[in-house]
Amino acid sequence: MDAPRQYSFANIIARSHKMQAIFQTIRKIADFKTSILITGESGTGKELIAKAIHYNSGRANNPMIAVNCGGIPETLLESELFGHVKGAFTDAYRVKKGLFEEADGGTLFLDEMGELPLSLQVKLLRALQEDEIRPLGDSKTVKVDVRIITATARNLGDMVNKGLFREDLFYRINVLTIEMPPLRDRREDIPLLAEHFVQKYNQRLGLNIREVHADCLQRLMNYNWPGNVRELENVVERSMVLAEKDILTMEILPPELLRQSSGPVRDDVFFWDEFSIKSNSKKLEKQLITKAMAETKGNKTKAASLLEISLPALLYKIKEYTIEG
Ligand SMILES: Nc1ncnc2c1ncn2[C@@H]1O[C@H](COP(=O)(O)OP(=O)(O)OP(=O)(O)O)[C@@H](O)[C@H]1O
Ligand SMILES: [Mg+2]
Repeated sequence: MDAPRQYSFANIIARSHKMQAIFQTIRKIADFKTSILITGESGTGKELIAKAIHYNSGRANNPMIAVNCGGIPETLLESELFGHVKGAFTDAYRVKKGLFEEADGGTLFLDEMGELPLSLQVKLLRALQEDEIRPLGDSKTVKVDVRIITATARNLGDMVNKGLFREDLFYRINVLTIEMPPLRDRREDIPLLAEHFVQKYNQRLGLNIREVHADCLQRLMNYNWPGNVRELENVVERSMVLAEKDILTMEILPPELLRQSSGPVRDDVFFWDEFSIKSNSKKLEKQLITKAMAETKGNKTKAASLLEISLPALLYKIKEYTIEG
């Protein structure tokens, strides 16, 4: 039981090879001050990864501060990042420490990096190169020791080509890139994530949902998740609230999930909708045999050898499971 925990790393749930490789990278690089760029569609878990890096590094006892570079007016963002002295601009009544100084010894997570105005890109580059910042209106610089992690859902390389992002800054922040795969490219994570969110919202909402019905899980597996893990989390929470019983069924899924044709279930995943080892083993056998038959284009001798069973055993099972051969 508790498969999610078994496959979790710093609260990130994933069993897919793609994500396991990312966990591996994080373990390797966490302790270095190297700048990391995290790319990926919205909702893929970029901020979670940034936190995992920080909390697995020697900086874990110092702050990790997240700044969203989009949606803040330029001058405000500049004083947020670098601070200002009294009288630096009309509304600057007091000295304000910037987030670079607040994050000293720790990590600064700059989210939505693609939205950073060009003028601030120059100032950020200088800060990164010199390890020092100059608060607005100040004549002196301040030394800082900050590890920078940036994230973007936009393609910064393209933006560089279009002159919208400085090339020198791009190379400075992009010493190492972690590309978060969209959820549709790692569907084997979906059952585990669904279980994790069921547990999370059971606790948070005081519910007692026991399982996700196989049909429902199949819809979750087949949907293409434009909003990635965040969308999955929302769908699970919504379904739990609407559920009539202690099981999540297909009928309560939002319309966009029901509209999708329920094509064949991917064959690299397996649904545990009951505990019986006997009946689950049979389902697994049936899936493996079907797959081996497809792989060998129906050649039973080759299929038997792939499956590492005798030909008579295969013939018997094909008959038992009424698999077309
Ligand atoms: N592998 C995962 N395991 C558990 N929760 C996850 C996982 N990936 C994402 N989440 C959850 O999904 C939500 C979105 O994750 P996060 O904010 O890190 O994504 P993001 O890539 O930063 O999205 P955006 O680009 O929209 O800011 C969060 O609630 C997060 O906890
Ligand atoms: Mg984010």
